[in-house]
Amino acid sequence: MDLKGKNILVTGGGGFGVGEGICNVLIASGARVVINERNREMADAAGKKHVKAFTVVADIGNPTEVEDMFAFVEKEYGVLDGLVNNAGIGLSKPAHEANQQEFDQLYGVDVRGVWMVSKLFVNQLLKNGLAGNIVNVSSVHAHSTIPGYAIYASAKSAVEGLTRGMAVELGGKNIRVNAIAPGYVHAEQNYELIRSWTENPEQWVEEYIFKEQVIHRKIQAEDCGYAVGFLLSDHSRCITGQTIYIDCGTTIKLLGSV
Ligand SMILES: NC(=O)c1ccc[n+]([C@@H]2O[C@H](COP(=O)([O-])OP(=O)(O)OC[C@H]3O[C@@H](n4cnc5c(N)ncnc54)[C@H](O)[C@@H]3O)[C@@H](O)[C@H]2O)c1
Repeated sequence: MDLKGKNILVTGGGGFGVGEGICNVLIASGARVVINERNREMADAAGKKHVKAFTVVADIGNPTEVEDMFAFVEKEYGVLDGLVNNAGIGLSKPAHEANQQEFDQLYGVDVRGVWMVSKLFVNQLLKNGLAGNIVNVSSVHAHSTIPGYAIYASAKSAVEGLTRGMAVELGGKNIRVNAIAPGYVHAEQNYELIRSWTENPEQWVEEYIFKEQVIHRKIQAEDCGYAVGFLLSDHSRCITGQTIYIDCGTTIKLLGSV
């Protein structure tokens, strides 16, 4: 995959999960990567981890900060060719128990943030008469979910709807819009969270992979990065409006272990 000469913004690229794998692959493929993070501390940590990348601070849930981010990026790093809407937050609470603040916070980042960043990205392409590419990060929850994730699942479904809709609106302007939908992406740091519902997180992960996936291997963040790199590259020039599920077959199963 050759992404040399491409200027790509990755939102929430300073995390230890999906964003890290995406940045690793894009940088290794020769892209000039600009990593967005929500505060200076996280942006600096991302800059130390990815020494070839540039960083920019903005809370993508805050429209003014998103506008300032685009003004800064265009001035400092030039026009962007690619955007990866990776930043996202979760919520583990049944929809009927969640309050309005929790709903607004999640939708403010996972839906409005994705729309707002995409809107400004597209407008800077149109202003400069350039082609470009967006890759959104959805989730298997947009396809099928579990109790406690209805609001997150609905937000990721909105991301897939936005992906198709913007692809239809922008195809004629040589702007493609696609998405990836990861399943459980493994990171050592996840064990801490998993410990909140089981005493043996390692065993829980092994069982999940065996019972819920068709391909019995841990999905690494780089596996998401490879698909993102493909969707940003010219190898996918006839693909738009699609969501690629990176879930080792989780969402194609009907019942039980296979
Ligand atoms: N990890 C998984 O198994 C998994 C599975 C499916 C989908 N996803 C999706 O992948 C994306 C990355 O998640 P992750 O699990 O790697 O989590 P993560 O917490 O490691 O990464 C998310 C990053 O986004 C940043 N962020 C959060 N809110 C932000 C904001 N308002 N502005 C700017 N940056 C912000 C965080 O600081 C963090 O670095 C999310 O969209 C998530 O929904 C993850």
